[in-house]
Amino acid sequence: MTMADEPLVLGIETSCDETGVGIVRGTTLLADAVASSVDEHARYGGVVPEVASRAHLEAMVPTIERALKEAGVSARDLDGIAVTAGPGLAGALLVGVSAAKSYAYALGKPLYGVNHLASHICVDQLEHGPLPEPTMALLVSGGHSSLLLAPDITSDVRPMGATIDDAAGEAFDKIARVLHLGFPGGPVIDRLAREGDPAAIAFPRGLTGPRDAAYDFSFSGLKTSVARWIEAKRAAGEEVPVRDVAASFQEAVVDVLTRKAVRACKDQGVDHLMIGGGVAANSRLRALAAERCERAGIRLRVPRPGLCTDNGAMVAALGAEMVARNRPASDWELSADSSLPVTEPHVPGREHEHDHSGGHGHGDGHGHDHGGGHGHGAGHGHGGGHDHDHLHELSKENLYS
Ligand code: KG4
Ligand code: ZN
Repeated sequence: MTMADEPLVLGIETSCDETGVGIVRGTTLLADAVASSVDEHARYGGVVPEVASRAHLEAMVPTIERALKEAGVSARDLDGIAVTAGPGLAGALLVGVSAAKSYAYALGKPLYGVNHLASHICVDQLEHGPLPEPTMALLVSGGHSSLLLAPDITSDVRPMGATIDDAAGEAFDKIARVLHLGFPGGPVIDRLAREGDPAAIAFPRGLTGPRDAAYDFSFSGLKTSVARWIEAKRAAGEEVPVRDVAASFQEAVVDVLTRKAVRACKDQGVDHLMIGGGVAANSRLRALAAERCERAGIRLRVPRPGLCTDNGAMVAALGAEMVARNRPASDWELSADSSLPVTEPHVPGREHEHDHSGGHGHGDGHGHDHGGGHGHGAGHGHGGGHDHDHLHELSKENLYS
């Protein structure tokens, strides 16, 4: 296949506070436009869902136009439009899904509702070429931390383990708040930790005992331990060594993440490890993973930091893979699902729903014609208050605790 034959796909990401629009041709990145509302949330110490939705609405059309211009392509030439259908903030997702539907309908292009988490993995194709099958992925973001085995990123993603409490990014954000470092916490802790001693304080490594679940994570005990340590220093009237705390906390997180990821690769006989999600931008995680993978003979794949945090290119990358593999497009009833499980890389149309009952694989997937018959169903988000709406919980917690 020459590059010109590869699918040209535009991807829209609005699950949290970044309005991302990316354009790819196959596994080649053509444009990655991001508008962030992070500054508007900073003073609240967390993402405020209503503020995020409104910012997406305002940024959507200009960001799409910027991406098309950057890629030097016309919307008419697109082979498909992909959009994050979940998981994420319901109202924020809805803005992206509505925009994607409108563009797809108006242009007569197939629509692909895709999973944010699978997109965080698939984005690495833009940097390091096609993903090996299966891919072992460590997914670490603000709302999720899991180890995933993906025989096929478009249809078959299997959870090996996950956090039983906080996500890794959530832990970074919470400790940054305790240290009064602002929001989001990951990048600033990363920066300060470079000048600190990672061995200064021995913080606990959660779930690393011999009888603990090998691939699950827990960061809640670590968070409490770090907070107590800081409180004790403050109570004693001593200065808190912020750089050492940041470095020691960060070391505890990335030690456990990399140890378990390498072990999963070895146990499953997988010689590659992919790391994705916002926390994969962390410089110490990248360095320690490189060191441990090299020692274990595992090839490490981590996208550049700008592609690890939320962006539209990752959605386009997964959309392009869907088109290339003839996965069924979504229909006009596609709605945002704030708690879309990681096991569903994409949300096919209603007529394909039976595919799910058989477990994995849409083996004989076929594109279907959007031109005929489908009404333009009004999008509706799933009701709020999902137990698994981690991002929402995170933002609430940041706001009120
Ligand atoms: O994937 P992402 O951009 O959004 C979600 O889907 O959640 O991840 C955001 C998370 C935040 O918790 C942020 O603090 C964290 O990623 N993060 C980092 C770094 N950059 C972003 N954590 C540690 N080190 C970083 N350099
Ligand atoms: Zn994300």
